[in-house]
Amino acid sequence: MGKAFSIPFVAFFGRNYQEYLAMFSLDESSLRGRSILDCPSGPDSFIADGTERELNVIGCDPMYAMSIEQLLKSGKEHIDECFAQIEQTPGNFDIRDMEKFRKDKYDALASFSKDFLRGKGVRYIDASLPDLPFADRSFDLVLSSHFLFCYASVENGGMMQGNMFDLDFHLKGITELARVTRSELRMTPTHSMQAPPQRHSYLDASTKHLESLGFAVTIEPSDYDDGFAPFVEILVGRR
Ligand SMILES: C[S@@+](CC[C@H](N)C(=O)[O-])C[C@H]1O[C@@H](n2cnc3c(N)ncnc32)[C@H](O)[C@@H]1O
Repeated sequence: MGKAFSIPFVAFFGRNYQEYLAMFSLDESSLRGRSILDCPSGPDSFIADGTERELNVIGCDPMYAMSIEQLLKSGKEHIDECFAQIEQTPGNFDIRDMEKFRKDKYDALASFSKDFLRGKGVRYIDASLPDLPFADRSFDLVLSSHFLFCYASVENGGMMQGNMFDLDFHLKGITELARVTRSELRMTPTHSMQAPPQRHSYLDASTKHLESLGFAVTIEPSDYDDGFAPFVEILVGRR
């Protein structure tokens, strides 16, 4: 087993639209006519490209309090820092095509940054878990990727140095995501971020918690496959 990948902050690092659909096993037609929240959305391009395709999408992230210049600067720095870390931890991230993976992140940041000022305060909302500024059951579909589970501490299967996002934080965050969900909540990753990946140590407690909030929970295959095992499944909660 290689050295564990770990970072001391939550990266402003985002996937592109196609990665989003694949990751959450969604096709565009299934999104039409539904109100969708992406939390956190960071610099992903799901909101920008979804809006262009006339989907009803809103993203939230605490970084949206910052200026576009600061977001672009952080976005580039965090991508570079993540890839530098990946290079220093061989054997941990077995991504098949690293150049494409990196390019997809830069493309997502570019689409996000073109749309951000047009949608600031409308479809880009400055907000953080576990307190979202939305009414109960506001969204038909809530998507949540690469924050919960991912940023648990390294010891608990995430990649964060430090334990600020412990199990208690996760359960509060999930309670809040559930509160704003009208019918369906999808979350990823479900696996630990270290090699060899295994189901995340918070997954069982999170599943039971969502069930106690009235959701039927299943772990389903993800269509996304870049060779990195933690992304093979998603958690789906349905009311
Ligand atoms: C790696 S990005 C995920 C972006 C996107 N969901 C994706 O998968 O491409 C993680 C994001 O979590 C955000 N974040 C940090 N603390 C948060 C909190 N308490 N609640 C919600 N989001 C938070 C960061 O600002 C960052 O943009």
